[in-house]
Amino acid sequence: MEGSQPILHFEKLTKRFPGVLALNEVSFAIEKGEVHALVGENGAGKSTLIKIVTGVYSKTSGEIFLEGKPIHFLTPHEALRNGIAAIYQEFNLIPALSVAENIFIGHHFTKKNFIVDWNRLREEARKLMNFLEVDIDVDMRVRDLGVAKKQIVEIAKALSLNARVLIMDEPTATLAQKEIERLFRIIRFLKNQGVTIIYISHRLEEIYEICDRVTVLRDGRHVGTHSISEVKIDDIIRMMVGREVVEKFPRVSHTIGEEVLRVENLTRHGVLKDITFSVYKGEILGIAGMVGSGRTELLRAIYGLDPIDHGTISVRGEAVSIGSPLDAINHGIALLPEERKTQGLVLLLSVLDNLGLPLLPILSQRGFVDDPKLKEIAQKMVAHMNIKTPSLFQKTMYLSGGNQQKVVLGKWFARNCDIYLFDEPTRGIDVGAKTEIYHLMNKLIEKGSTIIMVSSELPEILAMSDRIVVMREGRIVGELRRDEATKEAILQLALGRREEYARIR
Ligand SMILES: Nc1ncnc2c1ncn2[C@@H]1O[C@H](COP(=O)(O)OP(=O)(O)OP(=O)(O)O)[C@@H](O)[C@H]1O
Ligand SMILES: [Mg+2]
Repeated sequence: MEGSQPILHFEKLTKRFPGVLALNEVSFAIEKGEVHALVGENGAGKSTLIKIVTGVYSKTSGEIFLEGKPIHFLTPHEALRNGIAAIYQEFNLIPALSVAENIFIGHHFTKKNFIVDWNRLREEARKLMNFLEVDIDVDMRVRDLGVAKKQIVEIAKALSLNARVLIMDEPTATLAQKEIERLFRIIRFLKNQGVTIIYISHRLEEIYEICDRVTVLRDGRHVGTHSISEVKIDDIIRMMVGREVVEKFPRVSHTIGEEVLRVENLTRHGVLKDITFSVYKGEILGIAGMVGSGRTELLRAIYGLDPIDHGTISVRGEAVSIGSPLDAINHGIALLPEERKTQGLVLLLSVLDNLGLPLLPILSQRGFVDDPKLKEIAQKMVAHMNIKTPSLFQKTMYLSGGNQQKVVLGKWFARNCDIYLFDEPTRGIDVGAKTEIYHLMNKLIEKGSTIIMVSSELPEILAMSDRIVVMREGRIVGELRRDEATKEAILQLALGRREEYARIR
């Protein structure tokens, strides 16, 4: 009978890594056809649970039941064959192949003599795109698709394998508003088709929009499973962090000093158009806008990562030429990149070495590194940011996604710069740690630094910025003072049209 027994059921599921108890006797059930949120702080065990279900990791003890039968998949492939698919942030697609090839890789339609039936394959891929009501050319190479479309290709791939359980690990972290809406539409649609969805996210507002129930993990333990309709967001936060989080945005006021950075008529053909603005000592300047509006590109241009065609950058009143990140660093400018896995972290190195990398030039005297000093600073960073790691010597590849991000952040906070460019500083970071990051930002400001922060999280940008500039299509389309900035005002500027704004709401 449908609905009579849960589709997935965990019983005392336990996973031990060297030095870490990642899951500690976790028991709960996921019902057939529901959208089930899985939430918890960074390092709580969410990804580990998913990876055990899908055969990426093996469990230490406990049981998992799929429709009442115990399962123990040894590979993701085996999980897939049994109808369980997971979509991670690092996609499992092959960039050089087409959309259609990626969808059907491993289960090609063959004609006689094992020849791949290309026409049939493309036809089936097209049918899937129609089914999902998305417009993606199945002959395009996957490498030419943006993140949102790659994700849809992954979903199509899972559906082509008749997945009954679809797991999404932070699917909206890098999506624009419209893309999120499309994803939600697909999720609702799949739910109507009877697909069960497990949804991991740090954006708690989202789970109220699409999830039926929520399970909270804390330190590897199951804290509770509730109907979304019967828990408030503050209850979920309390369950996640084990205490009351009163102050989500601990913004302190301070005096703003002289001009530190001025950008004039900055232009990069096709990307940035005639950008002019200044930032001041002790100021947090927020840059708002839709994904793709040129915010990241602006930071990259200032940091010397991308060449500019026209315009000037002045630091402390002097026009400077920034041709590379090294030039930027020499002028006291630091960039926290958006893509942290690839740009910010050496996964094979330890937490200590990663935190220490930017400090090496400061701490090494005549080639000798002051090791105890390095350890002391790193230890402080780990404590400050609540980085969950068994020791300073753990390789960062073994940390949870959010804790890796904290290490990258820690690197930048530890160095001595005075102009910080932050691109989505709290993406993928849990509620409690976000507050820590805001505290650290306040500290930077107090010591006289300047922060330019690109953020897609409106509550964050509203609460933390002294001033907000809004970008659209490579231009600055408006500037709002702290006292006049509202969510509505930002969205109207960012979208450019009132009707569009009304629709998105
Ligand atoms: N391969 C591994 N080796 C050693 N420890 C690991 C490994 N994978 C995860 N861990 C540890 O297990 C714990 C749980 O990690 P997990 O990735 O499940 O967290 P998470 O809830 O997904 O967090 P996030 O929100 O940051 O993604 C963490 O302390 C992490 O450091
Ligand atoms: Mg994770």
